[in-house]
Amino acid sequence: MSSHNLAAIAKAMVAPGKGILAADESTGTIGKRFDSINVENTEENRRAYRDMLFATRGIGEHISGVILYDETLRQKAANGTPFVDVLNKAGVLPGIKVDAGAKPLAFCPGETITEGLDNLPKRCAEYVKLGAKFAKWRAVIDIGRDMPSSTCIAANAHALARYAAICQEAGLVPIVEPEVLMDGDHDINRCEEVTEWTLNAVYDALYMNRVVLEHTVLKPSMVISGKKCAKQAPVDEVAARTVRVLKRTVPAAAAGIAFLSGGQSDEVATAHLHSMNAQFKGELPWPLSFSYGRALQQASLKAWKGHRANVPAAQAALAHRARMNGLAALGRYSATFENK
Ligand code: 13P
Repeated sequence: MSSHNLAAIAKAMVAPGKGILAADESTGTIGKRFDSINVENTEENRRAYRDMLFATRGIGEHISGVILYDETLRQKAANGTPFVDVLNKAGVLPGIKVDAGAKPLAFCPGETITEGLDNLPKRCAEYVKLGAKFAKWRAVIDIGRDMPSSTCIAANAHALARYAAICQEAGLVPIVEPEVLMDGDHDINRCEEVTEWTLNAVYDALYMNRVVLEHTVLKPSMVISGKKCAKQAPVDEVAARTVRVLKRTVPAAAAGIAFLSGGQSDEVATAHLHSMNAQFKGELPWPLSFSYGRALQQASLKAWKGHRANVPAAQAALAHRARMNGLAALGRYSATFENK
């Protein structure tokens, strides 16, 4: 894989008006989503759900890439076409989650370290053969009493950087995802402080591990009030503080930034992204886009409910959210479009 290709892939992932669909829920996580619609967590149901999402007509208009889980990368549509081919045909890049999940971090009660570096070069080589163009690794930083620790931030930044270097060497564009959780009762000031600390540590580690920033996409959380905080910061403040932290920490060389939604409602996640792009038009060194999981899928999942007859409605719900977020990535969204 030439470095020219990695640059082109990274750029395509954050192309104007497009973003990424995170559909890489592990078997356990998709089980929780299925519980909410009373669908059994079987391999066939997981396949049918992803088949429904990927077959959405015009999915490539606002979705540049889809992050898949190992099982999904190997699955096929009902007509026998591998999902990778379905996505390629729609002009959507297939990506793969390569981390093995967040595990308890020794001596740091309540904190986690993301695992999965063992054998990663070998797994990446296989994923490239299967058609993946980019990868994802999620680190989790929780805010709480005496948390995060500097141990947790340093360990996760290091693992993210090792992952990113291994991916680039194997020919995959790494999505670097340090998620500062929005659970908890902390205020937006605390979130801003922890996000700035985390991103500084991540970019130090990327430099130490020789990662080529032009061939990376950052997937951060937004600077936002904790879910249980009594005072919720308004949309424009979330947008302004998020952009301030990103400008302080993310080198202009990064190919782009695609946010996670992290438990925000779908319309709020769209409004935040729009506000950043509308308020700071022409002042940003990188494209600001989306890589939402729940905020893209929620409405579609609810419409689907596991029934074939609901597929058109579920696909329409996904297409709508993709279009709303595509507009937000351009700073051209309005809540008045939601009812159309
Ligand atoms: P959410 O947008 O639901 O946070 O998911 C994005 C993701 O990929 C988390 O790793």
